Amino acid sequence: MGKDKLRKFAEVATFANVVQLDAGKAYKGQWASKFFKNNNPVVLELACGKGEYTVNLAKLFPQKNFLGIDYKGNRIWRGAKTAIEESIDNVGFLRIQIETILEQFAPGEVDEIWITFPDPQPQDSREKKRLTNPNFLARYKEILKEGGVMHLKTDNDGFYAYTVEQIENLKLNKIKETTDLYNSDLVDEVLSIKTYYERKYLADNKNINYVQWSF
Ligand SMILES: C[S@@+](CC[C@H](N)C(=O)[O-])C[C@H]1O[C@@H](n2cnc3c(N)ncnc32)[C@H](O)[C@@H]1O
Repeated sequence: MGKDKLRKFAEVATFANVVQLDAGKAYKGQWASKFFKNNNPVVLELACGKGEYTVNLAKLFPQKNFLGIDYKGNRIWRGAKTAIEESIDNVGFLRIQIETILEQFAPGEVDEIWITFPDPQPQDSREKKRLTNPNFLARYKEILKEGGVMHLKTDNDGFYAYTVEQIENLKLNKIKETTDLYNSDLVDEVLSIKTYYERKYLADNKNINYVQWSF
């Protein structure tokens, strides 16, 4: 690990708005009351990287709690630092492998889940790592409350097609979809939030895919 990454990794451990690994289990079923100290809805951003959705959604919706989840501490550092500097209290970050999410959240605890530009894992042998494979979808279904909504934004057309195929195979409720968000009438203040990776893809004139569904 480079010097800067190491520094951020050490610093992130001191942030009050970051929970790491097994420490998250203490909040299971109590993220709103124990971590955010309120009774507001809990929204997750999976594969949050630097946490642009987490931070910007929190500014738009002060009556909800937002938790960014990723396993890279040096990326989480950016979003957590911004939230501290700007005194945004309805933001937290959880550094875990998303595979362990059932250890960290109780059934029905989560109101909404965003997945932002996940690694597409195109090789067949990596399907088990794709964040929208049926095993991951089953976990999200368990922690979401009844009617809770999922959102996926991705530049990767193959990953998008794979996800829509899972939604259709499992007969889930597809609510909105577009393969070209910025040339669609879906785009609004929320869907125009741009992540670090999204900006890179847009600079290359890549179309952005978006699908919203519930279980
Ligand atoms: C391509 S980056 C996207 C980051 C951010 N959402 C963005 O758009 O800028 C994918 C992120 O997913 C995280 N990630 C991938 N698989 C994960 C897993 N199983 N558990 C936790 N984080 C994961 C990586 O650490 C990385 O930060």
